[in-house]
Amino acid sequence: MHHFQYRGGELYAEDVPVSTLVAAYGTPLYIYSAATLRRHFAAFDSAFDGLPHLTCFSVKANSNLAVLRTLGAMGAGVDIVSGGELYRALAAGIDPAKIVYSGVGKRGNEIEEALNAGILMFNVESMGELERISRIAARLGKNANVSLRINPNVDPKTHPYISTGLKKNKFGLDMETSLAAYARAMELPGVTPVGIDCHIGSQLTSIEPFLEALDKILIFREKLVAMGISPRYLDLGGGLGIQYNEEEPPHPREFGQALTKALGDLPLTLVLEPGRVIVGNAGILVTEVVYTKKTPSKDFVIVDAAMNDLIRPSLYDSYHAISEVRPAERDTLNVDVVGPICESGDFLARDRELPAVAPGEYLAVYSAGAYGFTMSSNYNSRPRAAEVLVDGDTVTLARRRETYEDLVALER
Ligand code: LLP
Repeated sequence: MHHFQYRGGELYAEDVPVSTLVAAYGTPLYIYSAATLRRHFAAFDSAFDGLPHLTCFSVKANSNLAVLRTLGAMGAGVDIVSGGELYRALAAGIDPAKIVYSGVGKRGNEIEEALNAGILMFNVESMGELERISRIAARLGKNANVSLRINPNVDPKTHPYISTGLKKNKFGLDMETSLAAYARAMELPGVTPVGIDCHIGSQLTSIEPFLEALDKILIFREKLVAMGISPRYLDLGGGLGIQYNEEEPPHPREFGQALTKALGDLPLTLVLEPGRVIVGNAGILVTEVVYTKKTPSKDFVIVDAAMNDLIRPSLYDSYHAISEVRPAERDTLNVDVVGPICESGDFLARDRELPAVAPGEYLAVYSAGAYGFTMSSNYNSRPRAAEVLVDGDTVTLARRRETYEDLVALER
């Protein structure tokens, strides 16, 4: 459920007509709904009420400060993967004691920044990283809480680009190396092993792979306990999918019930790193139809948003629903919705049945709240879109549209 609904023949974002937002801020425009963000966060977080847990929103899905503040105000922690995300999280007032730091390539300065901020823990992905965290922490006279990221070799049955828990993926450590890494962590100065971490992939539409991974992790945990390490945290990562089209992902409640059952009363605090399920359907991208074009083989709707604004269709061939901001009775056509970028891969939808829209009309591209703006670029020297956050009838310009001056501001 989200708060982008039609009222009186036009699309609203909560209590604000999308056409009003477009008139004020132009297109392409990302619109987020605060009520949807809160609803999704509450639904997810409360699904784990039966367990000690911490929900750490995955900043990579949507790093806008207004979004982070909205979630932070509800008690969310965050999962970060870079110094930049740490900077954003702190700027948004997220409690450092609720920040977990994942990622395979943490640099020295980033580790130092996180240690100085006093984050909850590092999810460590290699021996080299463990050694480096130890060296830096020891030099700073600090302690780093670490979890090792286990690669459980589980097939999440999702797009290959967003599967992360298979043996062939670059993420985490295989079980055997992990055991050696925990043993090493016990000897090293400056690091304390406090948890076990795992993230198997994104946009999972079934709970089975999570449970399969959890089973393996719980067996692994026994081995750690036998070694004298009792992890306090079990971080299961993110990955719960959402409905873009016809998927039927499990409700967070089911996910929560399954995990609560599997964990029983083990003395563990569950950490979760949801991104998409919180923010995916809390955002739309609004774009103006610039031209329509008939060719002997296809009809095209050319819009002013492109792969630089929303790369998911081009990169993963992913489906995003599209509809008119002001629907009208008319014939439908089978069209490709494409952007102005000079690549044939620049499309938002292919072979889509859409009403025969005309230039000057606006289209809403749904489920664009996650991995939309955060994956955007300036390709073709296109200034990045503006982002607004709607809360009831209140509108916040969460990020102003980039200007041409912004495009060259860092260049000489
Ligand atoms: N934790 C870790 C360690 C991750 O790598 C990710 C996502 C998450 C949490 C959050 O996963 P989520 O709950 O959002 O599924 N750009 C792709 C998705 C890449 C996901 C990368 N890692 C897309 O647009 O589908």
